[in-house]
Amino acid sequence: MSRTYRVAVVGATGVVGTTMLELLRARRFPTSEIVPFATERSAGRQLEGGLVVRALSDDADLGGFDVALFSAGGGTSREWAPRFVDAGAVVIDNSSAWRRDPEIPLVVSDVNPQALKRHRGLIANPNCSTMQLMVALAPIQRRAGIERLVVSTYQSVSGTGKKAIDELDAQARASLEGSEAPAPEVYPEPIAFNVIGAAGNFLDGDDHTDEERKMMFETRKILEDESIGVAVTCVRVPVRICHSMAVNVQTREPISPDEVRSLLEGMPGVVVEDVPTPLRAAGRDEVFVGRIRRDESHPRAFSMWVVSDNLRKGAATNAVQIAEVLVERGLLDRRDSVAA
Ligand SMILES: NC(=O)c1ccc[n+]([C@@H]2O[C@H](COP(=O)([O-])OP(=O)(O)OC[C@H]3O[C@@H](n4cnc5c(N)ncnc54)[C@H](OP(=O)(O)O)[C@@H]3O)[C@@H](O)[C@H]2O)c1
Repeated sequence: MSRTYRVAVVGATGVVGTTMLELLRARRFPTSEIVPFATERSAGRQLEGGLVVRALSDDADLGGFDVALFSAGGGTSREWAPRFVDAGAVVIDNSSAWRRDPEIPLVVSDVNPQALKRHRGLIANPNCSTMQLMVALAPIQRRAGIERLVVSTYQSVSGTGKKAIDELDAQARASLEGSEAPAPEVYPEPIAFNVIGAAGNFLDGDDHTDEERKMMFETRKILEDESIGVAVTCVRVPVRICHSMAVNVQTREPISPDEVRSLLEGMPGVVVEDVPTPLRAAGRDEVFVGRIRRDESHPRAFSMWVVSDNLRKGAATNAVQIAEVLVERGLLDRRDSVAA
């Protein structure tokens, strides 16, 4: 009988955690048991498939897990991921807690799976916008090198979690009914029928948001090229699911839009379409790319439009795919023997 794995899902009641549970089943990840964890508030709640939520507390039994998929925020990951690793699990973390650590691989399953070889029990999943961008850029970087990117994102509210979806729905409903909209809690301004030109938070007097900084840093780490210039504006739009982005790519070597199109058509996990939209991409695992065209203002630049489901490839799908690669490559039990 082939081997099966005991999997913990931390943050199992959230929008990403719920998608992880769905994908573990849909992709037939070989599990012996799935144990969902969340806060004390959710303990005892029954989820689809009869799974019962356990509280992540000092009383929780962390022993016996092969894999732990984390999507419960940075603070939870910082505190609990090392405890799961110490208890023997390999942690795949969706938060930003570990992405900047040079010792921790930051992995997009179909872009840099080779980085998994050096894991020591903890693996970071990139930020959702960066993730989908990397899938679309990897073949370009390999063929022509990337000198500079100019990116504007159009990020859906599910990127901020369940509360943000509820906030959009409540404001939209009130506005359509002509009643007074509830005051914004998740975002600084109303999000229904609006656009917020700064997604993320401004930290320590920075003039870029943390979301923008993530794309700058993580792009260079994943593509293993510190010299790539990244200019980015992250924007929040009143869309439930899927992040979209307008991307201008300046390459080191010349490349035609036709060649870009054929490289992308050959990239696993990419679908090339005329004009992808969030409504059509939602619920799908692929990254959709369209509007590939020459940038007439520069001899080595082109523009494209990239759309993907932030809860799927941007988070849960990639986490489960990493677990699959770890199984395929026999890397689940290797962390103690890997040289630095
Ligand atoms: N949404 C996205 O597109 C996306 C993409 C990539 C990465 N991420 C990252 O994934 C994480 C979760 O995001 P989300 O969008 O799924 O958020 P969410 O819908 O707000 O869900 C948060 C989850 O974390 C749990 N949680 C919070 N604090 C906890 C604690 N102290 N101990 C145990 N569980 C705790 C919550 O449990 P309760 O239900 O009991 O409160 C819930 O299950 C974040 O780190 C986020 O940055 C999100």
